[in-house]
Amino acid sequence: MPSTLYTDPRLVALYDTLNPFAADTAFYLALAAGKQRVIDLGCGTGLLACELASRGNRVIAVDSAPEMLHVARHRPEGERVQWIEGDARVLVLLPPADLLVMTGHVAQFFVDDRSFFDTLKAARYALRDGGTLVFESRNPTARAWESWTPAQSRRLIDVDGIGEWRCGKTTSAEARSRAFASTRIIDSKRQTRR
Ligand SMILES: C[S@@+](CC[C@H](N)C(=O)[O-])C[C@H]1O[C@@H](n2cnc3c(N)ncnc32)[C@H](O)[C@@H]1O
Repeated sequence: MPSTLYTDPRLVALYDTLNPFAADTAFYLALAAGKQRVIDLGCGTGLLACELASRGNRVIAVDSAPEMLHVARHRPEGERVQWIEGDARVLVLLPPADLLVMTGHVAQFFVDDRSFFDTLKAARYALRDGGTLVFESRNPTARAWESWTPAQSRRLIDVDGIGEWRCGKTTSAEARSRAFASTRIIDSKRQTRR
């Protein structure tokens, strides 16, 4: 079951404000420099895919959430990216890539060994010999979940055309001990600006 973060249009509309161009984007752009074909698995709203395409990479971007892809397709440079709605199973159909990325904790969606192994196998299939697979892992020693409390993570954000939202993160005690799962809570104090 996909997270509502990526399927509820109200939350999808907040994604880019909460996850803007940052050091990680710059890192991936540098990594892709000089590489011809790049696959972005779990591309989300397509920020990285479009940045790569604007720099001359040939980009195929895959995501399972149509609502995220809708935003991605309409970004500047969106027409230069090949967008595919699906998951790692589509990778066997694609031309061999030089680089395959799973950015922004996409790898944490594969919570059991079988699904992660199947994804890695599909990624290997999609890469040419000598190609590069990059994915992210949380650093448990950073204990990020300790700041996932409403008090520490609450923010007021103003999204153009939508209005002001209060949002924050929380995670259950069970999730804290077993996994790095989080839930972003939007406290529904939506206000229009007019
Ligand atoms: C945290 S977002 C990351 C988006 C983007 N990569 C970024 O760095 O901003 C996770 C994305 O992975 C997608 N996703 C989750 N499971 C997936 C799967 N099995 N196959 C493809 N995409 C998946 C979600 O729809 C969501 O867009």
